[in-house]
Amino acid sequence: MAGAAESVSRFRALYPSRGTPRIWRAPGRVNLIGEHTDYNLGLVLPMAIDLACFVATAPNSDGWLRVYSEQLAEGVQWRAEDIPAAVPTGDWTDRVVGIAWELARRGVNAAGQNVLIDSNVPLGGGLSSSAALGVALALALGGPREPLELAKLARSAEMDFVGVPCGIMDQFVSAHGQEGAAILLDCRSLDWRAVELPEEVAIVTANSMVKHELGDSAYRTRVEECAEAARRLGLPSLRDANLCELHALEGVVLRRARHVVTENARVEQFVAAAAQADLDGMGRIVTESHRSLRDDYEVSCAELDFLVETALDAPGVLGARMTGGGFGGSTVNLVRLDAVESLRAALVGGYQRAWGRIPEIHVCAASSGASEIFV
Ligand code: GLA
Repeated sequence: MAGAAESVSRFRALYPSRGTPRIWRAPGRVNLIGEHTDYNLGLVLPMAIDLACFVATAPNSDGWLRVYSEQLAEGVQWRAEDIPAAVPTGDWTDRVVGIAWELARRGVNAAGQNVLIDSNVPLGGGLSSSAALGVALALALGGPREPLELAKLARSAEMDFVGVPCGIMDQFVSAHGQEGAAILLDCRSLDWRAVELPEEVAIVTANSMVKHELGDSAYRTRVEECAEAARRLGLPSLRDANLCELHALEGVVLRRARHVVTENARVEQFVAAAAQADLDGMGRIVTESHRSLRDDYEVSCAELDFLVETALDAPGVLGARMTGGGFGGSTVNLVRLDAVESLRAALVGGYQRAWGRIPEIHVCAASSGASEIFV
């Protein structure tokens, strides 16, 4: 089980006689609403959660950056001086060397370090395991302590080294998370504020345990389609579009743009509903988001649709939708507190019968952002 104390003891076992490591933690996230809006400079409402990546580090004197992933049971090492010339290889190590490479670009050269990575954010589960790793590692290797700079650095590594044209949501919320609140972020101005949810609502994720291969290329295609829609409308980004203008578009590009424009509106509607403790309204808006992602944006899949519909049939469920990039990963459910266990039973039983797998269910606690942990 990942945790600060466990990381210290595993580190000592892995790198004997290296003393006590420093420990850094960065959380995963669940996005409540505002999906595929971040790279369109729109609004998002993610929440940092109580699943996190832990990175333990201690300097060494031999000049190697030596990294071991507890989750993958795999280790890898680079000469620290070779990092600035590193090139991506297409596997998980890109996410590690990419951070060191990005730091080097900014003049922070990774000296020799022994590093242990452990995480309880499920890999490929749609809860931002990659951003949690990037942010924790960036802190551990001497990156900026200021949350916005930290988030920007981790996002640059993901875009420029790993090659994913992502928005800033995941890294931002991992760096800025607040205990007990979601984060309303304007991805154009980068203004943000904490949004507390009504106490009667639990946020429950259900991991479909699938990650379809199509996901990465489809993400890239969506980014391009949105840029194309904005270009045809003569706008800098779809953030500036309104529904009436969209009649100038047609076909796929129209549907993509319609999702983005209506999703931005839904973020504002959801925040207003939350402020009035309008639980039914919050749930309805979340479910509308799923329909839009499924029909207009086409980033859902049969497993996610099944989890959403099963949840909506369960008592006490206010709303449900896919969360994150899509094509697998998790759903997020807004549930009345007293209905969490019946939802869990409905999802586990139903999904196992239909898909032969047990979905991982997590009742999320909103957690603080990345920091050093003192054990
Ligand atoms: C992934 C990306 C984010 C965001 C979401 C979709 O998680 O990393 O930047 O685009 O997909 O909302």
